[in-house]
Formats: sequence, C-alpha cells, structure tokens
Amino acid sequence: MKRRIFVTTALPYANGPFHIGHIMEYIQADIWVRFQRMQGHEVLFICADDAHGAPIMLAAEKAGSTPEAFVAGIAAGRKRYLDGFHIRHDNWHSTHSPENTALSQDLYRRLLAAGLIYTRQIEQFHDPVKGMFLADRYIKGECPNCGAKDQYGDACESCSSVYSPTQLRNPYSTLSGAAPVMKASEHYFFRLSDPRCREFLRRWIDEPGRLQPQVANKAREWLEGRDDQELADWDISRDPPYFGIRIPDIPEEKYLYVWLDAPVGYFASLKHYCERSGLDFDAFVRPGSGTEMIHFIGKDIIYFHTLFWPALLHFSGHYKTPDHVHVHGFIGVSGEKMSKSRGTGIDPLRYLELGMNPEWLRYYLAAKLNANVEDLDFNPGDFMARVNSDLVGKYVNIASRCAPFLQRRFGGRVLSPAGTHDPGTRMAVARSGSLLRDTCARSPAIRAFYDGREYGKALREIMALADAVNQYIDENKPWELAKLPEAETRLQLVCSVGIDAFRVLTLYLKPVLPKLAADVEAFLGIEPLQWADADRLLAPDHAIKPYEHVMARVTEKQLDALFETPKEAPMRSAPPPRPSPVKGEGATGADISIEDFNKIELRVARIVLAEHVEGADKLLKITLDLGNSTRTVFAGIKSAYDPATLKDRLTVVVANLAPRRMKFGLSEGMILAASGEGPGIFLLAPDSGAQPGMRVK
Ligand code: MSP
Ligand code: ZN
Repeated sequence: MKRRIFVTTALPYANGPFHIGHIMEYIQADIWVRFQRMQGHEVLFICADDAHGAPIMLAAEKAGSTPEAFVAGIAAGRKRYLDGFHIRHDNWHSTHSPENTALSQDLYRRLLAAGLIYTRQIEQFHDPVKGMFLADRYIKGECPNCGAKDQYGDACESCSSVYSPTQLRNPYSTLSGAAPVMKASEHYFFRLSDPRCREFLRRWIDEPGRLQPQVANKAREWLEGRDDQELADWDISRDPPYFGIRIPDIPEEKYLYVWLDAPVGYFASLKHYCERSGLDFDAFVRPGSGTEMIHFIGKDIIYFHTLFWPALLHFSGHYKTPDHVHVHGFIGVSGEKMSKSRGTGIDPLRYLELGMNPEWLRYYLAAKLNANVEDLDFNPGDFMARVNSDLVGKYVNIASRCAPFLQRRFGGRVLSPAGTHDPGTRMAVARSGSLLRDTCARSPAIRAFYDGREYGKALREIMALADAVNQYIDENKPWELAKLPEAETRLQLVCSVGIDAFRVLTLYLKPVLPKLAADVEAFLGIEPLQWADADRLLAPDHAIKPYEHVMARVTEKQLDALFETPKEAPMRSAPPPRPSPVKGEGATGADISIEDFNKIELRVARIVLAEHVEGADKLLKITLDLGNSTRTVFAGIKSAYDPATLKDRLTVVVANLAPRRMKFGLSEGMILAASGEGPGIFLLAPDSGAQPGMRVK
C-alpha cells in the first residue's frame, strides 16, 4: 500500500545560523524520508524559518536592522548548510509569510467561533523606557531570600531558592536597566482547561503507537497536572511592540503569540509548496484525509507539539491532528552539553569548509541514533573509528577489493552464481549463492529498523553483512586466484558476488549516504536503487564501469582543525608588525585610539541598484539598502565592475561621512574597496549572514 506522508522538522528560530543540533534533527528526518521514498511512498518533507517573537525583534534591533531584513538574511544563509549535508526538504518557507498570516488568523477565528478563546486582564511587568511588556527572561533583580544580585526571576543561582519575578527585590529590565512597573493589559487565552480539550487530548495521547512511551508519559503528566495544579489556559496574545501576526477583527493592535503561529508554519510551508507544484493542500490536512502527518522534534518542545498543537487543530474542526510526533534527544559534543542559543561544539559550516565529507557525519549520527529520547554525544575518537573502520574499512573496502579484477580481467562483466556451470567452481557457487541470499534476506529486518527510526540497529546489521562479505573474499582470496590460469571463472564469480553484495549494501545504506549511493549507482551502471532491488541480483553479463575510490578516511588533522578554537584577535596578543606607510595613501604611521576608530560608522549595505552615470568615466551610481534607510553613493569602480553584477551584493559603507555634492549628484557615503599597486579594485564583502544595517566594528 502506497503511503502518503507529510513530514516536518521543527522550524528553527531565525535568530542565528544552524548549529549541530539542528543539523542532527534534519539528518534524522532526511534519512527517514529518503527511506520511505525508496519504498515507493509519497513524502512531502517540509520546514521553514520560525521568524516571529520578541527575541528576534530584539536581535534585529541590536543588529541595527528591521526584523524583516534580519530574518531574510538568516534565511539566505540556510541553503549552504542544507545542501552541504544533503538534507533535502521539498520546501523551506517562513512563518513571516502571507500564507502563514492567512492560516493563523483563520485558525484563530475558528477557535473563537468554537468558544475556546476568551479575554482577561492580566498584570505584567512593563519596561517604561523600552515601552514593552517584559517576559520573565528580561527581568533580573536581587534574590528575595539571600539578596544575591542580578538573579533571574525564577530561581536564585546563589541559594537555589525558587520564586516568581514579582518577588525579586529591586527588579530591573535587562533591556534598558529601568525599573519595571506592573501594568495591566487584556490578553487572549485558549481554553486548554476546558473538559472537552482534556478529554480529547487524553484520547489523542493514549492512541497506541502515536507517541514514544516516554513522550506519552510526559504529556499525560502535564495534562493531568500534579499536586492539583490544573493544566492552565494558554495565553496566546502579545502586546506591541511585537514581531508577529495581528489578531484579526479587533481594533486594538495585538499579536498572536509566536508559539501559535509557529506550528501553523508547517502548514504555511506546505501550502506554499502545493500552490507552486499544483498539489491540493486540502487533501493533505483535512480530517479523514489519507495523509499521515509526522513531526520530528527535539525533547525541549514536546509540550507544544503534544498539547497545544493537537488541541488547536482538533478544535478548529477543520484540520487533522498529527499522527506521530517523533522526539529525539539532544546532541552534545565531547561530553559537554550544547547550549541551545550558543550552540558551541562543532560548527557545521566549518565542518564543510574544511572539506570534511558530509556523509561521514550522516553515517556517524545515524549509527548513534535510535527511537528513544536519548541524548547523544559527538566524540571525535569515536567518529573517526566508526567512519574509518566501519564505513570505509568494511563497506567501501568490498568494492576496492573486487572491482579492479573484474575491470582488468573481464571487461567489467559480472557472472552470477546461477549462470556458472564450471564444475571446478561448484563449491564457490554454493557459498556465493548463500552469501548473496543471506545479504538480501536481511532486507525486511533492516527495513523495519529504518521505519522505526532505529538507525543504529540498521547500521549494525549492515556492517555485520559487510563483515560476512569481507570474510567471503578472505576465504576465496581473489588476489591468489588471479595467479592461477585455471581459476579464471572462479575469480570472476567471487568478484562478481562481492560486487553484487556491495550493491545490496549500498541500497541498505542509501537513506544515510545518498551521494555515495549515487556515485556507486553510476559506477555499477545501474538505475537508482529502490528497496525492492534487494530482491534481485545483477543481470548476468551486466558490465560495471571503472572503479574510483568513493570515500576517503577521516584524518586526525581534519578533526584537530574542526575543534581548534578560533585564534585570538592578533591585537590582543602580540601586536603585529606595523606595516610601513604606503606612499601616497596618507598613512601616517601614527596610532589611533579605539575611540578614534569608533567615530567611523561602518555598516553593512546591500546594493539595490548600480547604474552607469552619463558622462562619468570612472563612477557608478549605487543605491544602497542599510536596513532601514536607503542611500545613494557614487563610487569610482566602473573600471572593475559591470553594474549588473553588483545588484544584491553586500558591501561595507562609511555611513557617517558628510554628504558630498558631486558633479553628478549628492553622494551620501562611501563604499569600501581594496586596491594595490597593480590593476584591480576589489569591493569589500561581509561574510554570509551579515545583514544590511549591521555595524562593522
Ligand atoms: N522555533 C522553535 C520550534 C518551532 S516548531 C513549530 C524552536 N527552534 S530552535 O531553533 O530552538 O530548535 C529547533 C529544533 O532543534 C528543535 O527541535 C530543538 O529541539 C532542536 N535542537 C536544538 N538544540 C538541539 C541539540 N543540542 N540537539 C538536538 N536537537 C536540538 O525550538
Ligand atoms: Zn538567593
């Protein structure tokens, strides 16, 4: 039966680049999706940036940018990581999108109509300077118990007592330093405590096979409450200033809390995809539709995905609820927990930039992943051992042991055990037949492991099969057969069997190693492997192509480079030798202070437009976007750049240079470029991820 599956990964906050935890989640889901596709199932694999909320609004402000430009810049950096690790979502969208606005507001209206939304005045800390309500994480003060300074509003790091932000002594806003004042405001609530909700969620959570047992237990605990703590209603509104989606149909400016519009972003991205691909969005999301809906998430966001989200969907009366929420644990590096925001440990981009093979990481993570909510650790020594000994030493090795003989001696032609009648090879034929049968026979078991997200177990099975194939090669010693003229057929048979077994192992590994599998398919001269190909052998007389080594080993050096801490800025250690003043450049050799330097306001700018200037032989007229303003500058770079190629590039501009009236118009700044003795002018460009308006310092 062909399944139709809608798979998502959690929408990452658009406040920073990916860390290894994100990549791990995407790899886990990507393997599962590729596996299901190999079964012939139809899968839609969807994600998006989670763009809204106060933290992103504040991060944008800090970067001197608008939230829109800020999240757009983060979004622009995503592709490098995803492509780099062969993570292939069908669509990557944003919660800051027309689709999400429409779907979120529509969902809100349906819940309102269902009588599940009400309003109530609440009192909250408000920052009078910043003019905004403060979430607890923006309030600090003195511990009411021991008086320790600068404690957060939930617990004291010094004496461990627990309290609420209103109990802090001398509280202050971490945003402005101002003393917060209590202020009332009307908030919108979702009636999660409604008996209908609890009744529904109980059934939803208890549905056999829907959630991992650990996850169902957690959800049940929250639902039933402990110590008479009833499940509270859910505050779904926020006051301005907020970066989010407006609550519709009311005169006041109020926004939907980001955690309401974020999961709707799953649908928004799916809709966006459906509209561009001519698919019927409704057919995927309506109750009773034959589509399975599956979310891959980390353990920190279970609450939202097993209580709020299913309840919102169910009581909208309009959508189906998730069939499964697959929860994974957190990855740490070398025994250290990784902070969600700092994301220390391994920088995925650095990994790629060092030329490390992305499939090493996919393989390593797969080997460590299972269906439980367990944390896992990236351990460099373990990484090297698994990749070098197992993946390369066992699996890849089979091809390099067999392919060259077939190539050199038999024009690449394979011989199948069934097609071999040479009496001298009869024993080998029997053994070969059973080796291939055994290799193929594990297909259902391996399939079940993948389907159940027991990747570690799947890979252990596969490596055990690779061991058996290597043992077969060891027993038959093709390198010795190659010296015996009478063993021609046997040599061809042994190598053919090795290669056919290698083909089946490649098939088993394909969800984890898509790029390597594609290379092997090309080398074997076969169609893209599907799971059903485990039930077939290579056609007799099939010819393979010349073998080239498909995967190198990890080196110590690469791992060292991966973990090397970035060098301290040279200014802080030994001062670098001062370059001698360059003639005619106005360099005086005199030091300036940091204050002097800070007088220059350097900012990142996006070139919106570059045009020739009539009558000017050196200048281009350039329109710049500085995040929240636009400027025109004239730059003497005509000799080096075709204006058409400059559009959308990021560069650096001196933003506080006094405007200068020039022959062709007013120049409101200066963009920076490098040049030397020789020809050539080289425009400065910030690293990817930089946003228009960001300060350069
Ligand atoms: N924006 C929310 C999710 C909204 S879904 C409608 C969010 N974003 S996040 O960027 O903080 O996290 C995205 C995903 O990465 C989550 O599933 C989270 O659990 C996962 N991880 C974050 N750190 C992780 C590790 N150290 N290890 C594994 N996964 C981790 O939460
Ligand atoms: Zn204390």
